[in-house]
Amino acid sequence: MIGADARAISIVEERAREIVELHNFNEIRIPVLERIELYQRSSGETSDVVEKQMYAFRDRERLTIVQGKLTRNASIDLDAEVETTVALRPEGTPGVVRAYIEAGLDRSNPEQRLYYSGPMFRRERPQKGRFRQFNQFGVEVFGRADAACDAELLIMIDELRRQLGLELEFQVNSLGDSQCRPAFRAALLDWGRENLHRLCSDCHERLERNPLRLLDCKTDVEVTASAPTSLDYLCEPCRKHFATFEKLLVGSGVPYVVNPRLVRGLDYYTRTAFEVVSGAVGSQSAVVAGGRYDGLVEALGGAPVAGTGFAIGVERLALAIQSKESGTRTAPMVAIIALSDLAVAQANNVASELRTNSIRTDLLSPDRGLKALLKRADKLNARYALIIGDDEISRGVVKIRDLRQSSQQEIAPADVLKLIVRESRFGK
Ligand code: HAM
Repeated sequence: MIGADARAISIVEERAREIVELHNFNEIRIPVLERIELYQRSSGETSDVVEKQMYAFRDRERLTIVQGKLTRNASIDLDAEVETTVALRPEGTPGVVRAYIEAGLDRSNPEQRLYYSGPMFRRERPQKGRFRQFNQFGVEVFGRADAACDAELLIMIDELRRQLGLELEFQVNSLGDSQCRPAFRAALLDWGRENLHRLCSDCHERLERNPLRLLDCKTDVEVTASAPTSLDYLCEPCRKHFATFEKLLVGSGVPYVVNPRLVRGLDYYTRTAFEVVSGAVGSQSAVVAGGRYDGLVEALGGAPVAGTGFAIGVERLALAIQSKESGTRTAPMVAIIALSDLAVAQANNVASELRTNSIRTDLLSPDRGLKALLKRADKLNARYALIIGDDEISRGVVKIRDLRQSSQQEIAPADVLKLIVRESRFGK
């Protein structure tokens, strides 16, 4: 990825980082390689991510027994090398939860707000917006079971949406919890068995292994329209949680729609689930997704601590900003044309002053003639060309050409910065 494409990715990451840090999130760095069991136990054995999309391979690992307790990389009481299987991370949440438990935070200081960013790997059929290696920027909050925390996640995404100037749709749902989910699952199974003859072959398989996924089948949309949904089965605490969540979204002006068919592709979700979709990235429209996972820390061996979070598909959001052509300009404000060695020395000083004042400046090669260099400045899409030759130096001026308006004037080198700042402030 080069130039504007790479820049769009950085813009998403930089803006996201600024916003989450203002919400008091701290950075966490997690490894790309983890044992495969971590994903099997969290993302879910029957999820597409684990079943079909992981890059996994055999590895050897030194396991150590210290005072009868199995640990990794500890001082040696008894040790052995064993065969293990590791996977390139398909998502960040399990690794963050593992690191959180390993650091003992679930017991010592459970309330944590963490963010991470980096490459994820899924063996999927590549297409626009869907890659085998892609970047996520994710956040995870631990120790907060309240709906206000779920709402804050969407408020942060809405802040990012506004900063990037995008139109996005926020879809929300509640998947219930261990109290009410079994009844919903049973109802969906009954419905599926009754309607088996109308369902596609993939759904036949889903029905027994992961019936919730019937609801996001792209083939059977019309058939599953009559299937039961989780909202009809929520227990009282889940219903209350969802009502508070919705009320807070309304109060904060986050525009959203309830999508009762939203089920998510990973198994750990409880209660709140959401996806943020864009019309600008083709069929792979979810640019951000997440939700609550209250049982996950405990399922991975930690204390019973609540969790909630989301991950931004960085390339997808970058595609959305590029299709709007906003904010990804990589053009310089000023291209400086120095026509002699002496002029280069002065050009370096002017360029340094402009850059110190955050004005993107490109000093063109002095090896070519004025005409070729003006063409180059045009090609770079620069706003101004600054022309310095021996004649200008002897008269104590520089020529500044407005490449958009094709006008030119001579000014003192010391006035260049003032002129550019003034013109750009008036948005000319
Ligand atoms: P996910 O829905 O699997 O959730 O992925 C989150 C986002 O990553 C998607 O909405 C999409 O934008 C992007 N994404 C996923 N697969 C690809 C791909 N092959 N190519 C490009 N972009 C992709 C999770 O990963 C959860 N860990 C999110 C979460 C965090 N839930 C709670 N905390």
